Order: sequence, then C-alpha cells, then structure tokens
Amino acid sequence: MGRSLDILLFIVCLAIITPTLNANKLESSEYWKEQRPEFDSYWQEKAEIAKQDNHAAYFPDPYAVSGNFTASISEIITLKSSRRNLKGGKGEKCLATNPVDRCWRCDPNWAKNRQKLADCVQGFGRNTRGGKGGPIYVVTDPSDNELLDPKPGTLRHAVTRNGPLWIIFARSMLITLQQELIMTSNKTIDGRGVDVYIANGAGFTIQFVKNIIIHGIKIYNIQVRQGGMIIDSESHFGLRTRSDGDGISIFGSNNIWIDHVSMRNCTDGLIDAIMGSTAITISNSHFTDHNEVMLFGASDSYPEDKIMQITLAFNHFGKRLVQRMPRARFGFIHCVNNDYTHWEMYAIGGSMNPTIISEGNRFIGPENKFIGKDQINAKQITKREYADAKHWSSWQWRSINDEFLNGAFFVNSGPELKNRPFSRKDMIKAKPGSYVGRLTRYSGILVCRVGQPC
Ligand SMILES: *[C@@H]1O[C@H](CO)[C@@H](O)[C@H](O)[C@H]1NC(C)=O
Ligand SMILES: *[C@@H]1O[C@H](CO)[C@@H](O)[C@H](O)[C@H]1NC(C)=O
Ligand SMILES: *[C@@H]1O[C@H](CO)[C@@H](O)[C@H](O)[C@H]1NC(C)=O
Repeated sequence: MGRSLDILLFIVCLAIITPTLNANKLESSEYWKEQRPEFDSYWQEKAEIAKQDNHAAYFPDPYAVSGNFTASISEIITLKSSRRNLKGGKGEKCLATNPVDRCWRCDPNWAKNRQKLADCVQGFGRNTRGGKGGPIYVVTDPSDNELLDPKPGTLRHAVTRNGPLWIIFARSMLITLQQELIMTSNKTIDGRGVDVYIANGAGFTIQFVKNIIIHGIKIYNIQVRQGGMIIDSESHFGLRTRSDGDGISIFGSNNIWIDHVSMRNCTDGLIDAIMGSTAITISNSHFTDHNEVMLFGASDSYPEDKIMQITLAFNHFGKRLVQRMPRARFGFIHCVNNDYTHWEMYAIGGSMNPTIISEGNRFIGPENKFIGKDQINAKQITKREYADAKHWSSWQWRSINDEFLNGAFFVNSGPELKNRPFSRKDMIKAKPGSYVGRLTRYSGILVCRVGQPC
C-alpha cells in the first residue's frame, strides 16, 4: 500500500514537473503551424539560397575535422612545459591556455589588429571569417527604439548593413533589445576592451545567413517579445511573430562562431541551432542559471538536420544548469574539452540518431535527488529520448579520454571511433579530461584592456 502510494506520488510529481522542464517552444508542432506562413517572398528566396550554402558548408568527412582539432590540443599540452607563448608584453602575464586563445590573446596589440581573431576559429566553424576584410563599425548608442529605421551608431543599424562589418563598441554599455536582433551575413560582433551586456529584452536571430562571429559579450535575462515590423537588412523589413526568448537562435545558417560569451537565464534556450544549420563552433563560453541550455535540431520530422555539424570546445557548463548541454537530433556533435561542473537532470542528450563524440571533457556528477522517496539518479551524463535500447544501441555516442568525477558516467553506444587522421599516441599524450580546468580557465568574457594582452 505504502509503496503504491509512493509510486503514485512519483508519477504526480513527474506530471507536474515535466511540462515546465520540456518547454522549448521550437519542439512543439503547434508552434511550427503558427510560424509557417510567415515567410514573405524575400525570406523564401533567402531560405532557398541558405539551404544551398548550408549544404556547401557541410564537411563530408566530419571525423577528419574533429581529429584535427584534437591533434592541435595535444600540441598545446605538450608545449606546456616550454612556457613559450605564455607571456605577454609589459611584464603582464598572459596565459592563453588553449589553441584558440593562443592564436591571439597574448598579443598586446590585439586592439590594433582585431580582425586577426577571425583566423583563430577551429572545429566545424573553422571557415567562419565574420566581418573580416570589412570596415570597423563603432557602436556608440545603446538605444534600440527604431525597429524599421535604426539610428546610425546603434547595434541594430550595424547588423543590418550590407557587406562585411567588424562591429565594436565605443564604451561599456547595456543594450536592451526591443525585439529580436536580426543579423545579416558577414558580421563580427566584438565586445573586447569594454563590457557589453545584452540583457532584459530580446535576443539574437541568425536566420538564413552565413559567416557570423559573436565574441566577448554577456547575454542574460532574454525575454519573449511580441514581434511586429522589424528591419532585417538594409533594404527589407517584415512582420515577425513572437520571438521565443532564446539568447542566440541560429536558424538555417552556416559558419557561425560564438567565442568567449557569457550567458545565463534566457526564457527559452541559451543557444539553439535548427533548420539545417551547420558549420558551427561554440567555444570558450560560460553558461549558468538555465534549464534547457542548447537545442541542436528541434524536430524529429526534419532530417535535413543531418548536415548539422557543431563543435563545442573549452566551454564551462556551470552553476544551476539543468539539462541539454546539448540536446541533439540527427547531426554530428564534437564535444571536446568542456568542463561540465553542474547539471541536475543530464548533460548530453538526444534523439533521432545524432553522432556525439565526447572527448576529453570533465564531468562532475551532481548529487542524487529525491522526488518524494524516490531517488533520481542524475549521475548518468547521457540521455537518449524516445527510443529503446534496441534502437539507440547503434547510435554513435562515444566517450574518449573524458574524466569522470563524483560518480558521473557516460553510456557509450554505436561503433568505436576509427579512421581518424591522428595517431593513438597523440590522444594518449593529451590525457585531456584532467587538463580541462586549465583549458577552460578563462571561459566567458575576458577582461581586456587596449594596449595590454587580454
Ligand atoms: C587536417 O590537417 C591536415 C594536416 O595539417 C590537413 O592536410 C587536412 O586538410 C586537415 N583536414 C581538414 C578537414 O581540415
Ligand atoms: C559575404 O562575404 C563573401 C566573401 O567576401 C561574399 O562572397 C558574399 O557575397 C557576402 N555575402 C553577403 C550576403 O554579403
Ligand atoms: C531571469 O530573467 C527574468 C526576465 O526574463 C527575470 O525576471 C528574472 O528575475 C531573472 N532571474 C534571475 C535569477 O536573474
């Protein structure tokens, strides 16, 4: 009797918890019904071009890309003892602890040579150049009052201009976006040297475009906005429905690099990548205070997401995170040297046979929780959804040289990794999981001063 009551209580609790914990709007078919008629002929044309670009950005041999990445990490770890490249100028000590940072961080003249950053990306987003080659655009005005004809000097004006632009900020500022910020191709948003906060309003929309770098800004408390007429390029504006409240929404886009960004507490996801998006690297970023952190592929009925290829590297998944770091469908996710210090339900999940290569991460298991008298074991890192073992046992989810602490464990499935263009020796040398604290030490926004190494 007591036991069946407990079970009943458990089911009731689940019923109460489940709807709020699975609230990502993008996954609901109702949402898509609402959205579908919204593309005017301008966006339909952009969608068509983007689809071809996304296919072109796909790497036919993803193992080669992920293998190269791992090999370059091995290299930096072996360099460790020589202390080369670890010191900056002016007696300032600069520690660039991973190969992406090492490419630019300790140069005291970084501010004179900002576009050098565009050469530093690795992983699946490796061809992203952002606004490289274009002029510098200085944002001087934090306001966002004009959604159709934004004032020159505002961020919305900058991101809707034609052609490549390298967008920087004249001073520290808090920008509250009145509606989603719809970006055009070939842009870099570079917050180095000042504190740029995007908060308490709408988030970023990267839709049917390519070649975007977002670096060195803080994004938090992003909310749902009602939509309306919004400018989306120099020569077009259109009616947008409600925005979801994502921090960064990547939609049918390719060659995206998000680096040294700090994000927390957005209404929907922190970063979502959906609708055939690919060639994405998310690196050196710090995430906290969020339930559904990253969604890669929103719909079981969208197999076009098979071209999705995403690298997550040197990120810190930190305090008060719950689940989805990431949750993936269909694509290929290379998760390398990230520090997973906090999760409440699971860290990495998915459905529809995504490939997940988890390499050299550190996973610190959470304490088990009780719901009623039932203990919920959250120490399992992985979660396969909507499939039984008969089906998921062939999905390739492999852990390689990860470090597991406090009881965390990864359930492998599918074939072991073979055919990679680096030797087993490289991998052994890297002993990666245990180096993660060092590799991710400077995740999130950096304190950079002009004239000094970052
Ligand atoms: C990996 O590195 C090798 C050697 O540097 C290079 O030849 C090859 O093109 C790289 N592979 C990819 C996919 O970039
Ligand atoms: C972006 O830049 C590339 C390379 O410079 C160029 O070929 C392309 O047309 C640009 N795209 C847009 C939409 O401006
Ligand atoms: C999270 O953001 C919402 C606004 O979207 C805000 O009302 C709430 O106070 C924030 N929570 C925390 C813990 O900062």
